[in-house]
Amino acid sequence: MLNAEEQREIATELAHYPDKKAVCIDAMKIVQRRRGWVSDDALRDIAEFLEMSVDDLDGVATFYNLIFRKPVGRHVIKVCDSVSCWIMGYDRLREHLEVRLGIGLGETTPDQRFTLLPIVCLGACDHAPVLMVDDDLHRDLDAQKLDRILQGYK
Ligand code: FES
Repeated sequence: MLNAEEQREIATELAHYPDKKAVCIDAMKIVQRRRGWVSDDALRDIAEFLEMSVDDLDGVATFYNLIFRKPVGRHVIKVCDSVSCWIMGYDRLREHLEVRLGIGLGETTPDQRFTLLPIVCLGACDHAPVLMVDDDLHRDLDAQKLDRILQGYK
C-alpha cells in the first residue's frame, strides 16, 4: 500500500494534469525515490491509485529504463551505450567498470554498493564517454578519472 507521504506527493503531481495516467512516471519515481525500486506490489498500488491497469503501468515501467523493477544497489551507475560513446571508448570504460566492480551489466555488487546498467544517449555526446552515478553526470571519462569518481560513492 502507498504510504501517506507517497499518496500526498503523487496527489500534488496530479493537480498539474487533467489525466491521472499522465503522472504515472512521476508516481513511480516518487515511490522509487523512497523505496529504491518499484516492486510488483508497489506497481499494483500505484496503478490502483491512478485508476489504470497494472499491465499498462508495467508497460510504461518497462519502456522507461530509469524505473527499476528489481532491487538495486545504493548507487546506480548508468553507462551510456550509444554511438558517440562507442566511438570514444565505451568498451574500455565498461570493461574497466566490470573488472573494478566484479559485476557485469545488469548486476549489483555483493556489498550492495553499486548496480551497473546500460543506458541510451545521455545527451552529452561532445563529452563522451559519459556515465551517470545516481543523478550525477560524469563526462570525458577514462579509467583513472572513473576510479576517482567511484571513491566518492560509499
Ligand atoms: S552517445 Fe553517449 S552521451 Fe550521447
